[in-house]
Amino acid sequence: GKGAAMVTAVAYRLTDQARQIQETLAEFRLSKGQLLEVKKRMRMEIERGLKKDTHKEATVKMLPTFVRSTPDGTENGDFLALDLGGTNFRVLLVKIRSGKKRTVEMHNKIYAIPIEVMQGTGEELFDHIVHCISDFLDYMGMKSARLPLGFTFSFPCHQTSLDAGILVTWTKGFKATDCEGEDVVELLREAIKRKEEFELDVVAIVNDTVGTMMTCAYEEPTCEVGLIAGTGSNACYMEELKNIEIVGGTEGRMCVNMEWGAFGDNGCLDDIRTKYDQAVDENSLNEGKQRYEKMCSGMYLGEIVRQILIDLTKRGFLFRGQISETLKTRGIFETKFLSQIESDRLALLQVRAILQQLGLDSTCDDSIIVKEVCGTVSRRAAQICGAGMAAVVDKIRENRGLDHLDITVGVDGTLYKLHPHFSRIFHQTVKELAPKCDVNFLLSEDGSGKGAALITAVGCRQRELDAQ
Ligand code: GLC
Repeated sequence: GKGAAMVTAVAYRLTDQARQIQETLAEFRLSKGQLLEVKKRMRMEIERGLKKDTHKEATVKMLPTFVRSTPDGTENGDFLALDLGGTNFRVLLVKIRSGKKRTVEMHNKIYAIPIEVMQGTGEELFDHIVHCISDFLDYMGMKSARLPLGFTFSFPCHQTSLDAGILVTWTKGFKATDCEGEDVVELLREAIKRKEEFELDVVAIVNDTVGTMMTCAYEEPTCEVGLIAGTGSNACYMEELKNIEIVGGTEGRMCVNMEWGAFGDNGCLDDIRTKYDQAVDENSLNEGKQRYEKMCSGMYLGEIVRQILIDLTKRGFLFRGQISETLKTRGIFETKFLSQIESDRLALLQVRAILQQLGLDSTCDDSIIVKEVCGTVSRRAAQICGAGMAAVVDKIRENRGLDHLDITVGVDGTLYKLHPHFSRIFHQTVKELAPKCDVNFLLSEDGSGKGAALITAVGCRQRELDAQ
């Protein structure tokens, strides 16, 4: 009868809707072949970054760091560290003691950097940083100590020595004027001078990936790779000096800050980028840049999810077809929310509660779809990040002429640490795509602060040797 026909029509509409949603998400589901292709392309871009002839135009910059060895336990002294570019800005005092019983003691304070300062003038940004250092030194009662300082500055810098780094370009949420093309260490020194309150000896500028690698290497000498999967995405590793053509040299190794977030900026990932990835890029502070990072880091995953949800809502599959103001708001799905939504321990009712908290009125069906969208986007992120890492460890293996490589990767970042599935899928992918490598992943405890201090310690010792 009529009723049966109606039921069939409703059922048909539902299955058709489910089919269309699956079609939308299918683009995010990469095959092993596609992931192997990502790995292969990453390897190609690595070579282009390392070679003198192609370095200038290369997107994966492979920046030398002037860190030539991992710590050996003889590092000693009191250091100040700054950590800028992650989720929080921090100032730290790090006391490293060598000897039979090695210890590292840390004190730190977190400071907010208001958006107007992140995106104001360079002078305002550095004055703010120095203001925070001043507050910290007062707090610790150490204003007159003239401590050596390591500056963890988590952006691409062209280094010509341990204590000089020209900012190539801002990434993530930063856009302060008059900094790109400038030596960030000089900008900091000038701001300290302007303040006329205390003196510091800036010894090293450090990328967060390098700090993470060094921190883990302090405990585990096989650690020769650093990974950040957090607000941004990036890796570093110990490369043979002879392969880093812009530095040159025949013997030994140097850590390279890959800046792999820019992978794809020459269009080499266009075949796997979706229209949602393009929308996220167009909505960002740095359009056309950091395309790989925009597919796999915490700052952007929620934005991809939001773009998909907007589209599904427009097509009438979600939220009763109503696009709320909330859904139009940039940045609503922070890593911590995605992590909660995807948690297996959470009942759907609780997913609805989270969406409610965010200001999204959802039905039970909505919450199922939202959860699936989140899962699909974060799975792809973990997989392409894994494909990148597979390229790195295989490169190290080949460098050393080995059939089999055992290696440790030091890892930090909110996405890796907070998300319920990212790390597992990432590990699985590395294993599948680099079967000749046994990769051990080590979580770094406060890599940015401790690592900067360790590098500063090595830098101070080197300076003493050079002076003799
Ligand atoms: C961005 C920065 C890079 C940093 C990464 C993780 O990709 O460009 O320098 O390591 O974020 O914080």
